[in-house]
Amino acid sequence: MAEEIFVSPKKKGKIAVFVSGRGSNFMAIHDAILANKINADIAVVFSNKEEAPGLKIAQQRNLETLYLNPKLYADRDEYDKEIIKELKKREVDLVCLAGYMRILTPLFCKEFKNRMMNIHPALLPSFPGLHVQKKAIEWGVKYSGATVHFVTAEVDMGPIIIQAVVPILQDDTEDSLADRILKEEHKIYPEAVRLFFEGNLEVRGRRVFIKSSECGDTQPTTRSK
Ligand code: GRF
Repeated sequence: MAEEIFVSPKKKGKIAVFVSGRGSNFMAIHDAILANKINADIAVVFSNKEEAPGLKIAQQRNLETLYLNPKLYADRDEYDKEIIKELKKREVDLVCLAGYMRILTPLFCKEFKNRMMNIHPALLPSFPGLHVQKKAIEWGVKYSGATVHFVTAEVDMGPIIIQAVVPILQDDTEDSLADRILKEEHKIYPEAVRLFFEGNLEVRGRRVFIKSSECGDTQPTTRSK
C-alpha cells in the first residue's frame, strides 16, 4: 500500500485551543498570533473545566470561549461529538491541546487526524503520561525536554513535530525542571503552529518533515537549546 502523505494547509487558519488549567501555552500561541508570527486566528478557547484559569484569561483577551460540562453527556463519545459540532460550526482547521486534561475519544482523534497538536513536558516517547518531570529526575536521565506532536488515539504517541532538549541539573527539583521545560514549550508550540499554517509540515507515517522553501527539500524538524 502506498504511504499516506499529509501536507499541512498554507492558509489563514482557524484554531481551537483546549485548556483545563493555567493556560500559559495558550497565551504563548495567542501572543505569537498577536505578533503576526502565525497566520491564524483563535476561533475558540474550549474547556472541560468551568473554572480553568486559561478560560478566564481568554475572556479577558476578548476571545470566544466555550465550556461544556462533561456530566451532562451520557458518555465520552456524546461529549466529544458535541465538541466536534461546535468546532465545525466555527470551521476550525487546527486543535491545539494546551494542558487539556481529558482524554479524547478515537472518534474525535479520527475527525482531527493531522489537525490536532499537543505539547508534552518530556522527550517522547520517554515519559508519557503525568508528573513526567518528577519521573525524569527519578529515573536519572541527563536530558529531558518538551515535545509537540500530532495527536492520535494512543495518548502521547502521535507523530513528533518538534522537540526541545533541556538538561537535567544535579540540584533540579520537579518545579525547577518544570519551569525550564515550560520556557521551551512556549517557544516550540507557537513554532509548530506557525509551520502548520505556512503549509510546511509534511507527515509521512510516523515522521514529520519540515518542508524547506529555500532548498525545496524536506527536513525532519529538530530544535535544541
Ligand atoms: C504543560 O506543561 C504541558 O506540557 C502539559 O500541561 C501543561 C500545561 O500548562 N501538557 P499550561 O496550562 O499551558 O500553562
